[in-house]
Amino acid sequence: MTDLKIRRVAGALGAEIEGVDLARPQSDETIAAIRRALVEHQVIFFRDQDLTPEQQVAFGRRFGPLNIHPYVAGMAEHPEVMEIIKEPSDKTNFGGGWHSDMSFLETPAIGSILYAVELPDWGGDTLFASQAAAFEALSPGLQKTLEGLNAVHSASREYSAGGHSAQKRGSMKVAEADGYIGEFVHPVVLTHPETGRKALYVNPAFTLRFEGWKARESKPLLDYLFEHCRYEGFTCRFAWRPGSVAFWDNRSVWHFALNDYPGQRRHMRRVTVDPWPAQARVPAAAE
Ligand code: SIN
Repeated sequence: MTDLKIRRVAGALGAEIEGVDLARPQSDETIAAIRRALVEHQVIFFRDQDLTPEQQVAFGRRFGPLNIHPYVAGMAEHPEVMEIIKEPSDKTNFGGGWHSDMSFLETPAIGSILYAVELPDWGGDTLFASQAAAFEALSPGLQKTLEGLNAVHSASREYSAGGHSAQKRGSMKVAEADGYIGEFVHPVVLTHPETGRKALYVNPAFTLRFEGWKARESKPLLDYLFEHCRYEGFTCRFAWRPGSVAFWDNRSVWHFALNDYPGQRRHMRRVTVDPWPAQARVPAAAE
């Protein structure tokens, strides 16, 4: 039994959780309850936390090994912690387009845990969109077609020399990836390993084309899906406060960091959770 209070925040996804201090070591029961809430609600939010980078790393590691971003340098003492900073002089922000974290890797991240350190006086919210809801809203015919397809993902648009989304600003450090990491193929429809729910797994930032299709053949259908997937009814919006935490499931959620606070500073810290080598199914609540 845990004392977590879980309150949904929107129809398609999202829940706010009260009753846990993430800075403290958590019992296995609490971690299991948080994990169940994550996979059920797809993105979960916590308020009024006070996390050092060490504590954020310790919490993240309870869900899987932490990823070290190949293109954005982490903190010197904590390479798993990415500082997402927009300085008042920066024009662009990090994550300012719909995407799913790390889909450009061979083994994409399962979750991301973002902690708000410093926020603008207004703006800087993050949008989330349920790709499970997006899949379920398609016709059975298109669902069936998409279930037979794979798609090619790559970081080439976001992180190539000259177009690097961190390099365009002075506020984030570029990691020297050891050679450019190539293209990886993932199913267009992912069956969630813990819930069995199906979700679309293509995104405008990192998906280049369908496997076996030319880019120009893929574009009309991908454009249709990208438009469909961001329909307002599949989304929720999180207004950050210092100390807020969002934890999202990259297997079924897109997110978008709004860049609507020119001249102000925003500072977040992210850890990104990779899958365990052999993924364990989450136990049902009654177990
Ligand atoms: C990201 O992880 O894409 C950034 C999200 C945000 O800063 O709100």
